[in-house]
Amino acid sequence: MRAIHLLNGPNLNRLGTREPSIYGAETLADIVAGARTVAEENGFTLVDRQSNVEGELVSFIHQAVDEGAVGLVINAGAYTHTSVALHDALRLLSVPVVETHLSNVHRREAFRHHSTIASAATGIVMGFGALSYRLAVLAVCDMVRSKAD
Ligand code: DQA
Repeated sequence: MRAIHLLNGPNLNRLGTREPSIYGAETLADIVAGARTVAEENGFTLVDRQSNVEGELVSFIHQAVDEGAVGLVINAGAYTHTSVALHDALRLLSVPVVETHLSNVHRREAFRHHSTIASAATGIVMGFGALSYRLAVLAVCDMVRSKAD
């Protein structure tokens, strides 16, 4: 079964109670369930992993390569703004990569305006809360399908 990998970074396991005015009231489990529905409706499975540890996220990306992921969606949380290691790991993938964020980081503090991983991504979806994840998964489904046609 063709799998899309969804990776979540630090503090995202606290969604639901973490700054709900910014990130919404849904838990990560709720958000992942919505993303999984989109994947499955389009004939894919969803593998989801979360870590608060930068190196573990790098290893999850390596696993996505080794397990033959057809695409990858990543919300790297705060590591988005700092991590060269995640950027380098994402460049190992030769499948669509979508960076996603719940919030529109460009409407927030200046330190969130730069993404170290953006140049390693195929595209970016942000600012739509949980819908960002569903749109990101949909984008991967569409890109994989149009490549197969
Ligand atoms: C976030 C935005 C980041 O700046 C922040 O550090 C997060 C969440 C988002 O989904 O909006 O942890 O990636």
